[in-house]
Amino acid sequence: MTYDTAASPHSAAQATLDDDPFTPPQDSSLWRRDFLLGAATASYQIEGAVHEDGRLASIWDTFSATPGKVLAGDTGAVACDHYHRWASDLDLLASLNFEAYRFSIAWPRVMDAAGRPNAKGIAFYRNLLERLKEKGIRTFATLYHWDLPQHLEDRGGWLNRDTAYRFADYADLMSRELHGLVDGWMTLNEPWCSAYLGYGNGHHAPGLANGRYATQAMHHLLLAHGLAIPVLRANDPGSAKGIVANVGRGTPDSSSAADVRAAHLFEVQHNAWILDPLLKGEYPQDLFELWPGTEPLVLEGDLRTIAAPLDFLGINYYFRTNVKSDGGHGFVEVPLEGVERTQMGWEVYPDGLRDLLIGFHREYPDLPPLYITENGMASNDRVIDGEVDDRQRIAFLKRHLAAVDAAIKAGVDVRGYFVWSLLDNFEWAFGYERRFGVVHVDYDTQRRTPKRSAERLARFIASRRERGAA
Ligand code: FCB
Repeated sequence: MTYDTAASPHSAAQATLDDDPFTPPQDSSLWRRDFLLGAATASYQIEGAVHEDGRLASIWDTFSATPGKVLAGDTGAVACDHYHRWASDLDLLASLNFEAYRFSIAWPRVMDAAGRPNAKGIAFYRNLLERLKEKGIRTFATLYHWDLPQHLEDRGGWLNRDTAYRFADYADLMSRELHGLVDGWMTLNEPWCSAYLGYGNGHHAPGLANGRYATQAMHHLLLAHGLAIPVLRANDPGSAKGIVANVGRGTPDSSSAADVRAAHLFEVQHNAWILDPLLKGEYPQDLFELWPGTEPLVLEGDLRTIAAPLDFLGINYYFRTNVKSDGGHGFVEVPLEGVERTQMGWEVYPDGLRDLLIGFHREYPDLPPLYITENGMASNDRVIDGEVDDRQRIAFLKRHLAAVDAAIKAGVDVRGYFVWSLLDNFEWAFGYERRFGVVHVDYDTQRRTPKRSAERLARFIASRRERGAA
């Protein structure tokens, strides 16, 4: 089906529940009307218009313009042209029945280098939020989805403690400007990626590679988050405040003590590194066994600031990693043969999501309510006769939603699920080749075509509505 803004929302009447392979079982908690089903995007991945209305350069403009950093030399300069097409994109979102939308604000669009507001950039997000409200769609705004203003990187970026204070100023400005329009504020998206991929191995902007940098950048990112939370609370008391962490499931290649320890260290490096400071007010000491000598400089009071109470925690989950001991204090990946993989090469492993959610629930007494803020998969989707038959994605979404249901039944408080992503978009170092959207984007024409997965989700959401509150 090709998207037409005039089309009416997909109705449950288009298919009976029995012949819809997407429909969860009758006893699934996903039928609960207070469980939100949404879609997610991020500014640099969809907006384009990088030189418009006073937007400054971000580290991703610089990085993607550097030869060899992004596949095929792709950049976010045009992306999905969402900056100009936002209104019809929101019509599309609504026509697919999504109940919530997670997007991010581009810091370099809304503030100049002196910290002064950029009215045109702010108006873009205000218009977007107002339109979402008119449509009855819940709004989740991420303040930092990786597009750091380049002028801050020029002064050390996340290696400079001052960036955390600049972030708090930015959070202050946005929550004063947009208060009352945001249901959920998310300070940071995936600080692990910003710190480790950005400063630890250089796969992402700004492209630095030093283990000590990674832990220091992480500390300043978490400090930025902790400084922003009370600011958001003061300026916009009616909204919920949280942060989004990507989490990884590590499984041992054998039952040997060394491999079990390796899997534990994998999860420390991916999960506890972020969640322990946020939820326990301390860094996991095992991290520094894995990476000796990388302890960050932490000032008195920082960990108290970082552990500011949260209203929710966003969890992004994609795959698991099978590991074994490296013979020393670390782990190495052992890719499994014969497992289902996506276009990214990532293993499809829904049990990992269930196990992690249940594990966090046990590990952290102060775990706030959770949202799955990203989950999805890339496939090499093509439009054929106006249709995109992405059946691997349909099965993927169904199985991961079932994993969320299993975690809820085990007692975990999960309030919603956002599919990554609404649109095919700029997939960071992989450029436009990897297609994560439930809506296909033809980058030559900017034509949007909802994939079958979008239609299935839309139908399920419609049938929930028709059933009423369960
Ligand atoms: C996550 C990012 C998101 C997207 C997905 C595939 O790490 O938050 O922007 O790239 O991966």
